[in-house]
Amino acid sequence: MEERKGFGSNFGFLMAAVGSAVGLGNIWGFPNKMGASGGFTFLIIYLILAVICGFIVMLGELALGRKTGKGAVAAYHAISKRFKWVGWLGVASAFLIMSFYCALGGYCIKYVVLNVGNLFGTGFGSNGMNGGDVFGAFLTNQSEGVIYGLIFVVLTMLIVMGGVSGGIEKFCGIGMPALFVMLLICIIRACTLPGAVNGLKYMFVPGWAVANGVIAEAPSIFEVISTAGGQMFFSLSIGMGAMITYGSYLDKKEHLEKNAVLIIVMDTLVALMAGLCVMPARFALDPEGPIGGPKLLFITMQNVFDSMDGAIGPIFGIIFYLLVVLAAVSSSISLLETVVAHFVDKAREEGKGDRRKKYSLIASILIALLCVLVCVDGLGSNGIAPWELLKLDGYKGWSDCWLDFFDMISEGVFMPLGGLLMTLMIGWEIGPEVVKNECEATEGHKMSSYPFFKVCCKYITPLCMLLILYGQLKSFFG
Ligand code: PHE
Repeated sequence: MEERKGFGSNFGFLMAAVGSAVGLGNIWGFPNKMGASGGFTFLIIYLILAVICGFIVMLGELALGRKTGKGAVAAYHAISKRFKWVGWLGVASAFLIMSFYCALGGYCIKYVVLNVGNLFGTGFGSNGMNGGDVFGAFLTNQSEGVIYGLIFVVLTMLIVMGGVSGGIEKFCGIGMPALFVMLLICIIRACTLPGAVNGLKYMFVPGWAVANGVIAEAPSIFEVISTAGGQMFFSLSIGMGAMITYGSYLDKKEHLEKNAVLIIVMDTLVALMAGLCVMPARFALDPEGPIGGPKLLFITMQNVFDSMDGAIGPIFGIIFYLLVVLAAVSSSISLLETVVAHFVDKAREEGKGDRRKKYSLIASILIALLCVLVCVDGLGSNGIAPWELLKLDGYKGWSDCWLDFFDMISEGVFMPLGGLLMTLMIGWEIGPEVVKNECEATEGHKMSSYPFFKVCCKYITPLCMLLILYGQLKSFFG
């Protein structure tokens, strides 16, 4: 049997895992949710949840992956009787998330091109239109949306075809530090704009958003907890097997606990940094613009760049959208790898050799089909939104567009459910000592968080997960 090749170094693993975690959610989700849900108060609740849920599920997944040396599907199969099928839930989540992630990743590429056009004054720039009109025209130009979405799918596929160390590790080893530098450059520009301080106040000062009319009323504490929980889950890429898959490629001599903490700290740091970039810019240069979600990224931020003098705007536009492309690609490769790893492992075990290229191609074609649907829908602009096709008039919100529909199933249901089932499996079926033994697989490694891990895994985390699941469903259906 061919050897199963993993990450070449712990740095490579860390960059890949952080790359998976750092994504679109950090940029358009976290800063806005923090501002609208109580500033610092939100941050503290987020951090508490990251410790009692995020850390537990992250460590559990990494340990499960490394112990079994298998992707999500086979890992659950190997280790559990009752939860055998949970890996498939992860694969399904990966497919659904990929469908809209690739569409949005494609939009980001389009905006890099748009700003290049603006820089050189060519026809493929904004041509004097404002951000809202540019985005509106793009959404209704279905073939353009599809082309960019497919470019993003192909990019993801090529990297995954390159393998774990040759493709994913190489890309993230360069891409993540580059993203960090570009983000720093954008933060310096944003925070030195006149009026930037309002963005900082919005993000950090509890109650500022309500007092200044940015949002109508303050959310209840329950809403804050469920918003923070849902955001944390999606942002850390947990509950759907990506971290099981990456953990399975990690060398036994590496420290699991340390890596889990580092991934969480870095992801939160980048989310805060993204806030320091987008919020000051929005409040300084487009104070009426949308403040969260895709519209923040593609309307407000484009207006921000358009209102900067001369070539500076397009140059910052190119830097900003490139960094978002990097964040999106490094997340989407972890999603595709979650799907592909299972089939590659199976082929290798059956002695058929490494069929990575073939399976990456097949999975990408299936993902491309869903991605085309999301692109043609253009965030519900083109009359084929789920509620229109499925006659769900009473259920607007999550059925307004295919992106929200797939997001609701994956982020709203499958991911928190996957996390809940995993903690139940570790806590009550296989026992938390399995994770301890894996963390201590190398001489001298001690799992210092074990007593904490054990209590959380059995009682605290599953309860929080239920609460998050309930909150997520309520936010989609409420
Ligand atoms: N963590 C990514 C983000 O914040 C999304 C993601 C979820 C990536 C699940 C991989 C797996 O955007």
